[in-house]
Amino acid sequence: MDLNGRTALITGAGGGIGKAIAMRLADMGVNVILFGGNNLEKLDAVANSAREKGVIVEIFPGDLTDAQFIIDGFNTVMQKFTAIDILINNAGVAYNADFDKTSVETFDKIMGVNARAPYILTQQALPILRKSDRASIINIASVVAHAGYPFQSAYAASKHALLGFTKSLAAEVYKEGIRVHAISPGGVYTDMVKISRPDLTGEGMISPEEIADIVEFLLKNRGNAVIDEILVHRLGKEPFLV
Ligand SMILES: NC(=O)c1ccc[n+]([C@@H]2O[C@H](COP(=O)([O-])OP(=O)(O)OC[C@H]3O[C@@H](n4cnc5c(N)ncnc54)[C@H](OP(=O)(O)O)[C@@H]3O)[C@@H](O)[C@H]2O)c1
Repeated sequence: MDLNGRTALITGAGGGIGKAIAMRLADMGVNVILFGGNNLEKLDAVANSAREKGVIVEIFPGDLTDAQFIIDGFNTVMQKFTAIDILINNAGVAYNADFDKTSVETFDKIMGVNARAPYILTQQALPILRKSDRASIINIASVVAHAGYPFQSAYAASKHALLGFTKSLAAEVYKEGIRVHAISPGGVYTDMVKISRPDLTGEGMISPEEIADIVEFLLKNRGNAVIDEILVHRLGKEPFLV
């Protein structure tokens, strides 16, 4: 399927998985809206590289824990773009600590970025996506949406919430032709992992580009075989165990 000229909004595209997805979409001729993010320098760098592919690129930096930013920011997006075909809720924060040392404030922040922001943003975007004949929503969940790893109580709760939201929304809108997917990766070698798991060297880990491969596959294959979720583990991890 040719997605040339379509438009995607992606969160957290300043680095890691989001950057790889944004660059892949630009390679496919998709205009990209880089929404949210606190590091303007990184967002600018991605935007400039994506523009070199000949697509329209706009950045809307801001804090996704701020509901008003999401609502106002999305309204500003819609003053510049007439259509959005693809929404990718990618921005996220991880947190590794004992449960006893994970404060309610931290819990709220992790839930805010990983679960609440996709919820609010999708509510804003859905009326626009409904106008597209090829609307897709892809939520970047995690293997922790399926398992309870120790010392990740807030992160696991947020990704379980995101996956629950994904399932319910998918069931609600599939009759309208809107595809809602989750990608649930294990270890991807990005800043998130470099900071939270300094013991990992990157060897055998998933690359951000491999997640972009999965996004491209999901967007291009809109036949009768519908994929709800892709659960993907890193090399060396036992298969079928998350
Ligand atoms: N890496 C892994 O092993 C792994 C595995 C499974 C799932 N995931 C998920 O994949 C997604 C991308 O993660 P990544 O590995 O690419 O990590 P990353 O390199 O740390 O990227 C996270 C992105 O989220 C943005 N972000 C964080 N807090 C934000 C906030 N309050 N407002 C706006 N943007 C915010 C960051 O922007 P700024 O830096 O500009 O704030 C950054 O661009 C996340 O949802 C993560 O949970 C990652």
